[in-house]
Amino acid sequence: MPTLTVTTRPLADLAADCVVLGATRGEDGAVLAAEAALPTAARAHLEAALADADAKGAIGEVHRVVAVPGVKATSVVVTGLGPDVTPEALRHGAANALRALSAKKHVVVGLPTPDRATLSAVADGAYAGCYGFTKISRQPAAGAGQGPKVTVHSQLGGGKVAKDAVARAEVLGRARDWARDLVNTPPNLLVPSMFEGNVKARIKASGAKVGISVLDEKALAKGGFGGIVGVGQGSANPPRIVTMSWKPAGAKASIALVGKGITFDSGGLCIKPAAGMATMKSDMAGAAAVAAAVLAAAELGLPVAVTGYLCLAENMPSGTAQRPSDVVTMRNGSTVEILDTDAEGRMVLADGIALAAEKKPDAIVDIATLTGAQMIALGDLIAGVMANDDSFRDRVVMAATGACEPAWPMPLPEELRKGLDSTVADIAHKADRWGGMLTAGIFLSTFVPEGTPWAHIDIAGPSFNEKGARGVDPKGGTGYGVGTLLTLVEQYS
Ligand code: BES
Ligand code: MN
Ligand code: ZN
Repeated sequence: MPTLTVTTRPLADLAADCVVLGATRGEDGAVLAAEAALPTAARAHLEAALADADAKGAIGEVHRVVAVPGVKATSVVVTGLGPDVTPEALRHGAANALRALSAKKHVVVGLPTPDRATLSAVADGAYAGCYGFTKISRQPAAGAGQGPKVTVHSQLGGGKVAKDAVARAEVLGRARDWARDLVNTPPNLLVPSMFEGNVKARIKASGAKVGISVLDEKALAKGGFGGIVGVGQGSANPPRIVTMSWKPAGAKASIALVGKGITFDSGGLCIKPAAGMATMKSDMAGAAAVAAAVLAAAELGLPVAVTGYLCLAENMPSGTAQRPSDVVTMRNGSTVEILDTDAEGRMVLADGIALAAEKKPDAIVDIATLTGAQMIALGDLIAGVMANDDSFRDRVVMAATGACEPAWPMPLPEELRKGLDSTVADIAHKADRWGGMLTAGIFLSTFVPEGTPWAHIDIAGPSFNEKGARGVDPKGGTGYGVGTLLTLVEQYS
């Protein structure tokens, strides 16, 4: 695990393996970020090196220059920031640099940090870029799981604001890496009971005061959780709802977070084609984000009560599997007609939302790899945010923006509700193809009691990066949502 500390000392004087600087995209190529106070000889050397490399200063460019005159560190890495030095650009630029340096022992990051938002983004991106999944192997790679000591240069001094921002980035980064690890873990090694065990072990290792309670398959059946029981009944690995709670004394508010935790989504009897199943170990990314956010809130000691509900099940076809046209009774008493066993996420979430609502929290947010329609609408980088209250929806989108996790508001049009009408039950769990992200959201909304602000974040796309590493996102699990949920909770403190 990388560690983060703050410095205000001149960059050139710091003994380290590498100093990271930024370059913006100018009209005639890369321009070394002006904030990097450097000896004249060092600046001239770097500018010549950038010109020689035809550097453009685009995000994704990483140039390494060794033995820069006047710079104590062994090398300087210049990372592209694009045309504007925004927190988002800094976050990606820092991550790209640290990805190239993740095997080093000590890296100094000297990117522009004029205010708290930019300093947080630099620290967050630097941590995020160090990630690598430790291969499951008889001979794990030497040094796997370690990470550099990262010293972040702060232009807003070395006082409390700067120190807190960097300390928070470390807590967030560590939690997000846990979420990534959970997503990347093969599905045979993370069935619901193992997910439960992993969460318990992590809480213990952290020492954070997070309470945990578990509903196993018997308790779920007894408690009337027909949605998650139905989804889990086709698998030899039974379902669980794991509740994690952070309850500080004198909490200013209470927030419930509900995560979809399908440890593998085969589609069930409505089985997916092989290609559609390829990434379905990631169908628990919502639960992973919730677990990580609760842990981070507790580690930071936020004065807000946070309860995470991890709705864990494996969706498999078998002789005991749920059938299309089954009718199940949910935790809140309503009956649901199953039309497609591949629309399982909303079933486990609906029971989780109903359970969360029983405690009367001030707000409920669910997060889920819920629909392919999300990816059709918004692509693989931007999450869709829906809610029963426009101002709460905007609040969640703002939290995502603050965390540099792209998200976009989506509607829950009342007219689409009739698509969920059923002739045999209170409601069907899906409508036709059109607006599939929205009808899934409308289905979930029926499990939220009147008057409770609720938002739904569909992360089917941004939770998993099938392409190569880019900016803060490694290949595979991205940990999307951990920052958004943590930022949202912080807004109540
Ligand atoms: N887990 C999938 C959604 C998904 C697809 C996430 C691709 C990430 C990438 C979900 O359970 C699912 O299968 N949804 C169906 C719903 C449909 C049957 C109504 C879908 O989107 O096709
Ligand atoms: Mn599915
Ligand atoms: Zn699914």
